[in-house]
Formats: sequence, structure tokens, C-alpha cells
Amino acid sequence: MFNFSQLKYPLIQAPMAGGPNTAEMVSTVANAGAVGSYGFAYNNADKISQGLIAAKEKIDTQSVGALNANFFFFREVKAPNTDIIEAAVDSLRQVSDNSIEPTIPQAPYFPDLSAQLEPIWEHRPDILTFHFGIPDKAVIDKAHSLNMAVGITATCSDEAIEIENSGADFIVAQGIEAGGHRGIFSPANYDEALSCFDLIKVLSQVTRLPLVAAGGIMNGDHIRKALSLGATAVQMGTAFLTTNESGTPKAHRDYLLNQQDRTAVITHGFSGRPARGIDNRFIRKMKDKPVLPFPLQNTLTGRIRATAIANNDGEYQSLWAGSHFRECQQETVIDLIERLFKPLTTCNS
Ligand SMILES: Cc1cc2nc3c(=O)[nH]c(=O)nc-3n(C[C@H](O)[C@H](O)[C@H](O)COP(=O)(O)O)c2cc1C
Repeated sequence: MFNFSQLKYPLIQAPMAGGPNTAEMVSTVANAGAVGSYGFAYNNADKISQGLIAAKEKIDTQSVGALNANFFFFREVKAPNTDIIEAAVDSLRQVSDNSIEPTIPQAPYFPDLSAQLEPIWEHRPDILTFHFGIPDKAVIDKAHSLNMAVGITATCSDEAIEIENSGADFIVAQGIEAGGHRGIFSPANYDEALSCFDLIKVLSQVTRLPLVAAGGIMNGDHIRKALSLGATAVQMGTAFLTTNESGTPKAHRDYLLNQQDRTAVITHGFSGRPARGIDNRFIRKMKDKPVLPFPLQNTLTGRIRATAIANNDGEYQSLWAGSHFRECQQETVIDLIERLFKPLTTCNS
């Protein structure tokens, strides 16, 4: 089964749902000796199969790196009443100046995890990870029976303890700086909002599972600090968004590289769950506006986001990014990994 000690570099290229994780990105990372990840969040079984087959074809069988498939753990959500839907639709119409009609979500509101996992059992990536919660024990047991390691995101000690008790193999400790969705199990819970380094310190006291530090890690100094605090590896998303191999939309890439005077803020506006992205007109206009619960708000905003991407308009799409996005560079995946680990000794040396 996968073990972090097999890696040349203690690095997971983060799963990033929505397109950044191309087969080129994932396989280049794995071939370099780190973990390449796909974020399959909303994908159906066919898309998941295609991604896994494409990456596996490119990954050298002798590689010490690994392939990770990541899923959202969606929670049951009740259909909101008509008034709540109307209020959320009205605010979105205002935000788009009535130019784009929101898509009203229809049940089922999210993909069926057991159907999504069918291609996983068939193609068997080395690692299976979950964001937003812990899957049924049967899923973790099945992964283990097929020799796959299981990792789950935690944002606080209570979540870490639950993860350890679930039988999972490692924890992705996600600090508040992280780009994209905050992995907190329930967004209704009080959020301690610990920084990545503080979270590693706190979690090392409550769990013996390997900790993967995530959130705002952009350079070799950040990696050394995370490892010195007790992390076994780091998980980095934002830094990979501007690599040549990433499927990041053009405007998103441009903002990451060239909008240095902006900050990355947390919004519920795009999906109904807290997520960090570069501040833009959509986020500002949605401040304090009613939103539907996750993932219904994601469906509702789908057309606005897709139109903005097609029009190369950075003001109405989610520009997910961590707090330290200003350190992004346009480079190849290999140049990024070499830059990150240049003065650092590798796992095997
Ligand atoms: C564009 C983007 C999409 C993301 N999508 C996912 C996802 O699908 N699953 C997941 O577990 N984490 C996701 N994350 C969070 C990352 O796993 C990780 O916690 C984060 O990137 C770390 O912070 P950093 O972006 O500052 O490196 C995403 C992050 C970004 C930037």
C-alpha cells in the first residue's frame, strides 16, 4: 500500500475540481516522484474513468510517485422552500444585471458516491481522499482491501480525531490560507480558522496519523517549516494553477499572475460553502446576499460561471486561490517541483 516514505518528494499536488488537474499535470507530478491528484467532485463515472486511464497511461510503472483520486463527501440536503429559492434567484439576477438566468437546482442535488467510486475500484489509483467528511466504513475497508491508502481533510482537532477513528490512513490538515473550498465537515459548525502551521502543531498533539500540511504553502521555506513542525508531507494547490500543464481558465491564470493588488477572500457566494478565491465583482456583489445550501448554490451559479469562463471574464467566475497566490509563477510542473525542493534533501537521501 502507498506509504509517504516511498516518495522522492513529500508533496501532494492538490486535487482541484473543475479542470486544473489535467492528465499531463497529474502524471508529470507522479513521474517526478510525488503524488499527482485528480479532484473528481462533481464528475460522473465516465469522466472519472477517462481521467484515470489517461493519467495511468502516462505514469511510468517504475515511478515511486503515486496517483490520488479525490471526492467530495456530500451531505443530504433538504429541498429549500420556494421563498428561499426565489430570494437566492433574485439576488443572482441582480448580480448578473438580469443578463443570465440562474439554473434552478433539481434533485438529486449531487452525484451518487457509490457510482462515482465504480471506476476507482476498477482502475485502482494508489490513494483515495475525501473532502468535507468521512465516507462509510465500507468504502474505507474496500479501498484497503484493494491496497489503496485513504486520506481525509481536517480543519480542527475534533475532525482529526474522527478521521483517526474511521480507520483512514492520513489527514490533510487544511489551514485557513487554503485556496478553494474549506474542508470543514459542517459549514454550520464554529470554525477555529487555524493557520496551516498552527493546525499542524495542534493536530500533532491529538493524532498519530501522518499529517499533510495544506494552505498557503508556496515555496521551499514553507515546506521546510511544515515538515519541521511535524508534517509528513505538504499538499499544494494554488502554486500548480499557473503551471503550463494546468487546465486553469485563462482569466483565472491572468489574475493569479497579474492582479497582485487583490487579495484572496472567503465567500459562500459561488457554492453555498466557504471557499477562498481572488476578490472580484461577483464576490463583492454577493456579500450578505441570500444563498442556497451547498451544493445547490453551485448549480444555481453554474451558468454565470460558465459564461464568464467562455467570455474570459475574471469578474464573474470563481478564481479559487490561497492567501499567498502572489507567489505564483508561470512555469512547468518540473520547474516548480525543482524550485520547491532545490535546497531540501529528498525523502530517499
Ligand atoms: C482551484 C482549487 C480547487 C480545489 N479543489 C479541491 C477539491 O476538489 N478537493 C479537495 O480536497 N481540495 C480542493 N482544493 C483545496 C486543496 O486541496 C488544498 O487544500 C489547497 O489548495 C491548499 O492551499 P493552497 O491553494 O494555498 O496551496 C482546491 C484548491 C484550489 C486552489
